Amino acid sequence: MREIVAVLDFGSQYAQLIARRIRELGVYCEIVMHDISAEELGAMHTKALVLSGGPASVLEENHPDMDPRIFEMGLPMLGICYGMQLIGAMLGGTVESAHGREYGPAAIDIDSPSGLFEGLPKRLDVWMSHGDHVTKAPKGFTTLAHTPQVIAAMGDADRRIYGVQFHPEVVHTPKGAEILKNFLFSIAGCAGGWTMANFIEESVARIRSTVGTDHVICGLSGGVDSSVTAALLHKAIGSQMTAIFVDNGLLRAGEVDEIRHMFTQEYPLNLDIVNAREQFLFNLKGIIEPEAKRKSIGKTYIDVFYGEAERIGGAKFLAQGTLYPDIIESRSAKGGPSATIKSHHNVGGLPKDLKFELIEPLKELFKDEVRVLGRELGLPESLLNRQPFPGPGMGVRILGEVTKENLAILQEADKRVQEEIRTYDGYKDIWQSFAVLLPVKSVGVMGDERTYANVVAIRAVHSVDGMTADWVKLPYDVLARISSRIINEVKGVNRVVYDISSKPPSTIEWE
Ligand code: XMP
Repeated sequence: MREIVAVLDFGSQYAQLIARRIRELGVYCEIVMHDISAEELGAMHTKALVLSGGPASVLEENHPDMDPRIFEMGLPMLGICYGMQLIGAMLGGTVESAHGREYGPAAIDIDSPSGLFEGLPKRLDVWMSHGDHVTKAPKGFTTLAHTPQVIAAMGDADRRIYGVQFHPEVVHTPKGAEILKNFLFSIAGCAGGWTMANFIEESVARIRSTVGTDHVICGLSGGVDSSVTAALLHKAIGSQMTAIFVDNGLLRAGEVDEIRHMFTQEYPLNLDIVNAREQFLFNLKGIIEPEAKRKSIGKTYIDVFYGEAERIGGAKFLAQGTLYPDIIESRSAKGGPSATIKSHHNVGGLPKDLKFELIEPLKELFKDEVRVLGRELGLPESLLNRQPFPGPGMGVRILGEVTKENLAILQEADKRVQEEIRTYDGYKDIWQSFAVLLPVKSVGVMGDERTYANVVAIRAVHSVDGMTADWVKLPYDVLARISSRIINEVKGVNRVVYDISSKPPSTIEWE
């Protein structure tokens, strides 16, 4: 029987990070809703539970809670932050509101060096982020660690129930992985050994049983996420999947040919390339507002998918390469209260009455995990190391109305950015680099002539998962070549600027 750890999600931005850390330790992990019933959990054959943090307070009425019968299942349990407070409150301890939030680095002193803190120093640096805290541990629990202000960890070794007030899953808790490891292996008795190869096996089995004898269409953008999704489906169901590459006209120069070559020659699969350039442009006519653009592009994609599904004789499922960060920024992962930053087209733009059932096999993963998965599936490095390219493409890199003329200018400018930036030694460490067409004109002089033309911004960022980013300190000579080539070679541009903003507070794309 496969070993599963379940993370009960109480609306934390970090729930997925917890799952990821557990996977990194070689234990399969799934995120489930916090109100899952004891029966459902039992049916999953869960080996251990982790209760995530969350923005609510157990002192509020109607706070998210869990089925109390879960405590009777005898499962090892680790509550993190809100999770610890909930355990405290549900088992008869006392939780109180702190005077103000405690946020950021803290040092905790270990009172009990065995179990959760086995093999760790007496004092640990941790990351705190909470408003409430447990002031009296429930009966049967002892304090395992403290700060001058709070009980930092508590546990009942007999029942194998533990709580930590800090966040072991974030990098700012340097020994966090060891604490999780102690919980999983010493306390919960997990065996470990899970790898991405297992993920493939499990996904293949799941896809086959979901799809049965039906047909799946898979939106293929040529980016890493959708390519890995298509490869996974291809492995699972072969020709029952049609990968649809939509030429929406918002692509980088040369992209269609690259994709055709990749998926007919290098990694052949059932590929269908649809030219829908006019349809996208027509629907974008007159739209300026970024969210409206995203919605329009998302809707046109769906229309194209409907058309193609019909053409190939029907499809019950639509597969997409949605990743975890796409979900968390478009809406909360499991209906929790995190804010919408941008509606990524493959998440936020879907119609309510979508005629397909969705298959999103990567939705619990981060980008770097997807690359590992792709490697495991045998996709070429050239594809796996491609920079991410947003679904709405140049639609969100042309500020203002998207027109044929603007698209031509941006494609030409972007091509020069790509060509020149590749000469930079640090290119392979760049997360994304691209051109953006600004909706302003500026005055210039070319020869003896006055010009009044477009401004192009260059964006190049370092990032690990797209959630945060910093601008790349590109050498001046690289910037100079990009600028001079664009201004000299691209008609309609007389000024180039470099974007030096980080995310947050900016975002990577301009729209
Ligand atoms: P932002 O601009 O939100 O971008 O900082 C974070 C990462 O997500 C990509 N991105 C998208 N990808 N559909 C996608 O498939 C979208 O609508 C979308 N919007 C942004 C962006 O390129 C960056 O890598």
